[in-house]
Amino acid sequence: MGDGDQARETPITNNVIPLQQSMFRELKDNETGRISKEYFEIRRKLRDFEAIANRSPAAVFLWRLGDDWPVEFLCGNVTQFGYTRQEFLDGDISWGEVIHPDDVSRLERERKDCRERGIDKFTQEYRLKTRSGKICWVEDRTIAIRNGAGVTTHYQSIIFDITKRKQLEERLFRTTEQMERLVDERTAELARANEQLQLDIAMLRQAEEQRRHLEQMLQQSQKMEAIGTLAGGIAHDFNNILGGIMGFTELALLDLQEGSAAYNNLKNSLKAQYRAVEMVNQILAFSRQTESDPVPVKVSAITKEVVKLLRMSIPSTIEITLELNAVSDMVIADPARIHQILMNLCTNAAHAMREHGGKLIISLSNVDIGLDTAMVCPELVPGQYVQLFVRDTGQGIDPLIRDRIFDPFFTTKKPGEGTGMGLAVVYGIVKGLKGTIDLESRPGEGTLFRVLIPAIEHHTTESSDVMDMMPGGQERILFVDDEEFLVRIGEQVLSRLGYMVVARTSSVEALEAFRAQPENFDLVITDLNMPNMTGIDLSQELMHIRPDIPIILCTGFSERIIEDKARKLGIQEFIIKPIIMSTLAKTIREILERRR
Ligand SMILES: Nc1ncnc2c1ncn2[C@@H]1O[C@H](COP(=O)(O)OP(=O)(O)OP(=O)(O)O)[C@@H](O)[C@H]1O
Ligand SMILES: [Mg+2]
Repeated sequence: MGDGDQARETPITNNVIPLQQSMFRELKDNETGRISKEYFEIRRKLRDFEAIANRSPAAVFLWRLGDDWPVEFLCGNVTQFGYTRQEFLDGDISWGEVIHPDDVSRLERERKDCRERGIDKFTQEYRLKTRSGKICWVEDRTIAIRNGAGVTTHYQSIIFDITKRKQLEERLFRTTEQMERLVDERTAELARANEQLQLDIAMLRQAEEQRRHLEQMLQQSQKMEAIGTLAGGIAHDFNNILGGIMGFTELALLDLQEGSAAYNNLKNSLKAQYRAVEMVNQILAFSRQTESDPVPVKVSAITKEVVKLLRMSIPSTIEITLELNAVSDMVIADPARIHQILMNLCTNAAHAMREHGGKLIISLSNVDIGLDTAMVCPELVPGQYVQLFVRDTGQGIDPLIRDRIFDPFFTTKKPGEGTGMGLAVVYGIVKGLKGTIDLESRPGEGTLFRVLIPAIEHHTTESSDVMDMMPGGQERILFVDDEEFLVRIGEQVLSRLGYMVVARTSSVEALEAFRAQPENFDLVITDLNMPNMTGIDLSQELMHIRPDIPIILCTGFSERIIEDKARKLGIQEFIIKPIIMSTLAKTIREILERRR
């Protein structure tokens, strides 16, 4: 309202009016002065406030709630983002436009969530596009402003530039991530190193275990060797003495009246002597000094016989199972010895189950011993073996006596029940066959004995059938090989085929035998590689003595070049080792037939 309007409405009286007017003017001047003073004061404060706000790093917005969120008030530092306050106040630019498009929907979601949950104060972080196109991070602390009725009408935001903090956070995050990755890598490395260390330790332990095992085996075999030599020596002499005692006893019996006291006493003495002979024989078997007659033996056939015998002799509370899984179960041995191995192991097993019964499982299979196994068990040479398992579910063997069970005369049986020679004899026989015996046992659970005996080349037929396939004759043959084992086989087989065989393990001795009676031989079979005089040298000497003597040269695969040399000498027949007896038999016949 203007001053003139006020004067027009005032009633006019001569003496009052001037007073009133002057009073009014005075009043009005006072009021105007106060108002303008206040106005200027407010303007000054506002300027101060704006100056303060402009100097602060924050921008303050007041938005009215509505579709386009118009900015009603704005102060503070918006120029830091490259915009002017006026642009926002005039609505030329909205805050929504400057927010990074990737953050818009998240911010709206958060805001809506706060509204729905009645939260009036919340803080958001998001990215802004500055006028120059740079992206900066801001922190937006928003407060909802309600009217008297409690309805939110406005939002007030204080916005700070937090780009530096964000950059630091980002760097920190990346550094942390890198650190974590490094820690992970290092941990994995350490885990790998630890694993390797564990492996190394395990290998060292295994090697140590193997060394201890080898040492034990060596000690055991040295001990057995020493006992064997001692016991064998005594048994040998004792056998001769026994022979004398028995001979004289039998002689004395002839002079005595049958039924007389002296006769009966001597008869009893003779019985005791027989037992002594039996025992001496066992000691000799243990010390490998008994004569035996090794031939190709089919272990499964003997095992079947033993099982038949056992079924008749052991209690029915013991169930016997026979598993024959060996493809090649021929070994070179005295069949009686194989029988003895099986009987001794099985009677021990039956004895261990005599009280509660149980299961006796006998199984035969083949096993290939490679170089690695042979290194751990130096008594075995690599090759095919027949593997015999005798397993029982009996009382098991106390670990304290485990090292002694193969000792001769070690027994846990009551006096009169056993002599303790069973396993000693088995040990002696197995060693004599170049095999091994070992065991696993758990007290209360049972025992497993494993015997390995070298198998001979694939023979699928019974030994008698093998002999049937071989043609024989009655000629005289000189058989020479430095391998005693082979000489024995050759001698046995050729003798069985009807030939007269002179066998020698030394080429020098063979030459002497031939030189002594050259006409006594129809054929010579000789190994190529022998010490002192090779098979070729021997052949040369023999042919020098008797140029027409037929010779068969046995060579290994690697020695075939030498065949040419031999051929030039006039040797026509070769046999590749290992010698297959049926081939040898046929070759012999062919040569001899040709010479007729
Ligand atoms: N399968 C087994 N289960 C439990 N203990 C066994 C077994 N085999 C052998 N033994 C133990 O080994 C000891 C020695 O056995 P070994 O066959 O040498 O003699 P023995 O059986 O006692 O007497 P013998 O064989 O002369 O009748 C036995 O007394 C027994 O203690
Ligand atoms: Mg026994």
